[in-house]
Amino acid sequence: MKLAVLGLGTVGSGVINLLRQNKDIIEERINGNFDITHVFARDNRYNLDLSGIIHTQDIDEIINSDVDLVIEVMGGIDFAYETIKSLLKSGKHVVTANKDMLAIHVEELSRIANENEVQFNYEASVAGGIPVILGLQYGLNANHITRIMGILNGTTNYILTRMSQDDWEFDYALNQAQELGYAEADPTNDIGGFDARRKTAILSRLAYRREIDMEDVAVTGIEELELTDIQIAKEAGYTIKLIGLSEVQDGQIDMMVTPMLLDTATQLAKVDEAMNAVYFNGDAIGETMFYGPGAGSMETASAIVADAMYILSFGFIGNTVTEGKAPIAPQSFARKYYVRVEESTTSLENALDSNFFEVVYSGEEGTAFTTEPVTMEDAKAQLKDFNVQAIYPIAD
Ligand code: HSE
Repeated sequence: MKLAVLGLGTVGSGVINLLRQNKDIIEERINGNFDITHVFARDNRYNLDLSGIIHTQDIDEIINSDVDLVIEVMGGIDFAYETIKSLLKSGKHVVTANKDMLAIHVEELSRIANENEVQFNYEASVAGGIPVILGLQYGLNANHITRIMGILNGTTNYILTRMSQDDWEFDYALNQAQELGYAEADPTNDIGGFDARRKTAILSRLAYRREIDMEDVAVTGIEELELTDIQIAKEAGYTIKLIGLSEVQDGQIDMMVTPMLLDTATQLAKVDEAMNAVYFNGDAIGETMFYGPGAGSMETASAIVADAMYILSFGFIGNTVTEGKAPIAPQSFARKYYVRVEESTTSLENALDSNFFEVVYSGEEGTAFTTEPVTMEDAKAQLKDFNVQAIYPIAD
């Protein structure tokens, strides 16, 4: 079998290293041989030994080659999309980690792959090294999934862990995350919550088998999250994590990425550093959790090479396509909230029903309180006369 790799960055170099390092077990398990015959990349910044491999900057050379399977890890949207479309149409299996592109084009590319009887796999696009897509598509396939809740971005989890545990400055923590190879090329996708939003959309589509528009995932990043709220929450028994949440109630789906308060005693609250974790709730399984590395060169390569091995073993088995748009009810479910306002406790007591809120902090930073379950719209209405400094949901 002939393989091509598009992109030689952090992940691409991991893929080539892993294919070489574990060639013995890979060939044994796929019951055949493979060779990396082509690489498409502008440069070779990790100085990989490419002897015996055609290193090209002409993508047509790969599209028109007799390569069986192409691994796309170059990132970016438009060029990757056009390239994958051509590869699928030319009868090549494709494995990608490209969540930015998938969040927009996964449906169309999956259909094209099916029409051309080739496989299009993307395990590494969500939660890096955790086989969460395989787990969802096969392991949990007999369930109606009712909720997905997870830490889906390693960079922000690393930043929040260091801020919360060691009082690191935000910028220093981000810099370290970049050095460790966790962050996106443009880290605003990490800290703005957009990376987690794409992953939430990809998982929701597979969970509900409905088309998901990623714009329907409400997004709040961690740029505005203040150390003060991390500390107040900690004192009150909560840990703040950036959470991707996708929930079904009465046939409606509500999806969001937001900093969320988690009871410190829960497992998700203990997922630290750059680790990821995803909970799935289903009618048969109840609740199940996947935990592991969500980013990194070899960690992500593990998922990519496993996808490739699956295809090299079984060939075309069909790609999941969905029917119709998901019924969306954005931010309409009642939730408890953590709120901090500039005003005093007395002002709150004068304006709000005492059963509605419980004060957890009062001092120089204003008043912080937790609420009874309320929709976002109702919360905003109740708080319209206050200067709200922070408002984040609290996990059940
Ligand atoms: N920037 C991403 C993260 C990489 O930090 O999780 C893996 O998708």
